[in-house]
Amino acid sequence: MVRIRSAVSADGSDVARVYVDSWNDGFGELMPAAVLDDGRIARWSETLAGGNWWVAEVDGTVAGFVGIGASRDPIDPELGELDTIAVDSPYRRQGVGTALMHEAVEHLAAHYDEAIVWTLANYPQGQEFYAKTGWTLSGSTRDDGRQVSYRRRFR
Ligand SMILES: CC(C)(COP(=O)(O)OP(=O)(O)OC[C@H]1O[C@@H](n2cnc3c(N)ncnc32)[C@H](O)[C@@H]1OP(=O)(O)O)[C@@H](O)C(=O)NCCC(=O)NCCS
Repeated sequence: MVRIRSAVSADGSDVARVYVDSWNDGFGELMPAAVLDDGRIARWSETLAGGNWWVAEVDGTVAGFVGIGASRDPIDPELGELDTIAVDSPYRRQGVGTALMHEAVEHLAAHYDEAIVWTLANYPQGQEFYAKTGWTLSGSTRDDGRQVSYRRRFR
């Protein structure tokens, strides 16, 4: 059973591990490899302590995480952003990502009229996931077309 709870600083090492593993096997040859080291764990601990991050636990193990905030690109305090969502590979295709997305969307909708998320253009898995969970391709790109954004309106 999936349980979603607010992340705390002590989740830093689990979140860093899931992030690095997902990044490396999700984006493969598309992006440079991420490395799990003390610095990355410390940065995640600090980020999680700031709030607006949630983890999914399956049988007490951290299986994924998600975070939200105000949009960074464009910088817009009135636009929400789905910051990062990742599920550890053994737990994928079991609804964990959808459960995390529901939590994130609930909080985004409480604070913003609209939200954005950026993903890689050449990455059908991510794009299918966002489309399936209610996001719409916006048409805007960055990084010479390597990234695309999705948006959704709440009101
Ligand atoms: C994208 C990700 C978060 C999805 O998590 P998940 O727990 O597997 O998602 P769910 O089981 O809730 O899947 C929901 C739907 O998304 C779509 N989807 C998920 N993974 C998919 C994949 N690999 N290929 C195609 N569609 C996929 C499907 O429509 C799926 O529904 P279905 O299983 O009934 O067909 C996870 O694969 C992941 O962490 N990937 C690496 C990091 C990443 O890509 N982050 C987001 C993009 S930047």
